[in-house]
Amino acid sequence: MSSEEDIRQYLRDDGWTVYHAAEMDSTNEWVKRLAAENAPDLTVCLADEQTAGKGRLGRVWRSPAGTSVSMSVLLRPEVPPERLSMLTLVMGMAAADGIREISGIQAGIKWPNDVVSDGRKLCGILTEAGPDVSYIVIGIGINVNMESFPDELKDKAASLYMCTGRKYSRVQTAAAALNAFLGYYRMFCRTFDMSGLKEDYQRLLVNVNQPVRVLDPKEPFNGTARGIDNLGDLIVEKENGETVHVYSGEVSVRGIYGYV
Ligand code: BTN
Repeated sequence: MSSEEDIRQYLRDDGWTVYHAAEMDSTNEWVKRLAAENAPDLTVCLADEQTAGKGRLGRVWRSPAGTSVSMSVLLRPEVPPERLSMLTLVMGMAAADGIREISGIQAGIKWPNDVVSDGRKLCGILTEAGPDVSYIVIGIGINVNMESFPDELKDKAASLYMCTGRKYSRVQTAAAALNAFLGYYRMFCRTFDMSGLKEDYQRLLVNVNQPVRVLDPKEPFNGTARGIDNLGDLIVEKENGETVHVYSGEVSVRGIYGYV
């Protein structure tokens, strides 16, 4: 246990198995090591600082000491493997709710799971699967108390502190996201799709009715985002009127005029 306050006092459900370290390479890697030792569903690993944090697409994710929430959750739902990727959208909803609860920021979601405010990213999520998709790890990085970002990120990233001028407990922010997650996770596990969560998700989705560029590796195209379907795919109306459903595992989406 690190010197931070104990997250357990803020968790509403006692189903979580919690590990908290002052420093870790990557909480996703930590969870994978525990998963190999048969750690249960709803194991959560939290670190005050990561020395080898990982972002999507092989990028580095920086989380200097004391600035952010860096945590990863191990899930072992009995769900067809092709349905697991939807849980990353579920975690996006939970992170947005947690951020709103703690800071009052009206955080939204850029599909599929970046949590944003005023066009800047507050939280990123990296989901990885275990061998034969026997489990998944959902890693969440929330920018809590950073006072600034390096030049290459400053137009795209923000922290709760930069949005409100206040600093927040990282442990309480993490707990707020985990508390929200559990309700959504149980709803997801009733149907193993987004049918029960779609309306709530779409209320948070900042892309609805906005122009988007779909970075399809075969052929990028522009269109207007209309929402998600029951599988969490983004429904995009192309400029020629055709409607396509875009799967998050294969493509990224950008705003036409910027990141969102
Ligand atoms: C992204 O690129 O948007 C995803 C960032 C995910 C970062 C989190 S921080 C906790 C967990 N451990 C990692 O190494 N990465 C994720």
